[in-house]
Amino acid sequence: MSSIHNVLVVGAGGNVGRSTVRALLDEGFKVTGLTRESSTASLPAEADHVRSDFSLGSLTDVFKGQDAVISTISSVTPGTALASQNLLVDAAIAAQVKVFCPSEFGIDTADSSASSYIPFLVDKIDTVSYLKKHQNKISWIAVITGCMFDWGLRIPGFGGWDISKRSATIFDGGDIPFEATNLDQVGKALAKCLKNPGRTANRHVYVNSFTVTQNEVLKALERAKGEKFNVTNSTVDELWQDGANQVKEGQVLGVLKMIAGAVYGKGNLANFSKSRGLWNEKLGLPQEDLDVSIQMFLSN
Ligand SMILES: NC(=O)c1ccc[n+]([C@@H]2O[C@H](COP(=O)([O-])OP(=O)(O)OC[C@H]3O[C@@H](n4cnc5c(N)ncnc54)[C@H](OP(=O)(O)O)[C@@H]3O)[C@@H](O)[C@H]2O)c1
Repeated sequence: MSSIHNVLVVGAGGNVGRSTVRALLDEGFKVTGLTRESSTASLPAEADHVRSDFSLGSLTDVFKGQDAVISTISSVTPGTALASQNLLVDAAIAAQVKVFCPSEFGIDTADSSASSYIPFLVDKIDTVSYLKKHQNKISWIAVITGCMFDWGLRIPGFGGWDISKRSATIFDGGDIPFEATNLDQVGKALAKCLKNPGRTANRHVYVNSFTVTQNEVLKALERAKGEKFNVTNSTVDELWQDGANQVKEGQVLGVLKMIAGAVYGKGNLANFSKSRGLWNEKLGLPQEDLDVSIQMFLSN
């Protein structure tokens, strides 16, 4: 594939979107951020900002002239946002975009059982199947990152951490390894993938900041804070099942417990560094340090 210059990011004002726009600018791409017409997001001055009503015609118009489209669309509104990604693919094909990166950035959706552990993954899996069907017209890259490390620490209670209360719940003994990736590293991974489109096209690309266990994170948090955390114990099955029951009762945020359960080993889809092999080195994406990441998280 010829090289990529112009890149458009859908959902550019979101968690992954912001770090992706920054990383693409740092790698020298010409960057355009797309938001909905109703969006209040503001983007860095060096990026162009376009808006769309997300109709096929409007999306096709804004995608014209782009070499790559990255979707960082939200999974918070399942049934609408993620399910609309196939329309983004149609528009990208109509606009002759070369490569489409779907909104992934989590557990390993190359394994189709992933949606039994986190329901909204059915839409992510469907979009990659759709892309595979059309890969004679457009290439795709699905970036798999495991747990979004700093994003998770920010949400009190997520994954058992409540840093302001110095409390932690440790699941199944806390020695289960999982892949953890900081938000900025996700953006950098996407930028590096687009620097190497010949190698990354039509693949799931596996990256991380580090492979870690809950007990290692606990020790690092205690080192950084200079205090012991109050620890309780539970099981991954209880965590996941509690979330699944909440979702069944209509409490959508129960999905956060299902996500944490999947990160801590339910389905074994967040520990892929050995089974799938990491792309960090091939992409020139250095791994990161746990203690430094926690220091940076705490100082922000
Ligand atoms: N593995 C993990 O631990 C983890 C953690 C977080 C996220 N993720 C994944 O990363 C991806 C991005 O998540 P995020 O947290 O960055 O998303 P986000 O910040 O919640 O949302 C990103 C953007 O999506 C746009 N959006 C929302 N609903 C939309 C709709 N119906 N149609 C079009 N655009 C819509 C919004 O943009 P505007 O309103 O500005 O247009 C929003 O800024 C998702 O696939 C998510 O599953 C994974």
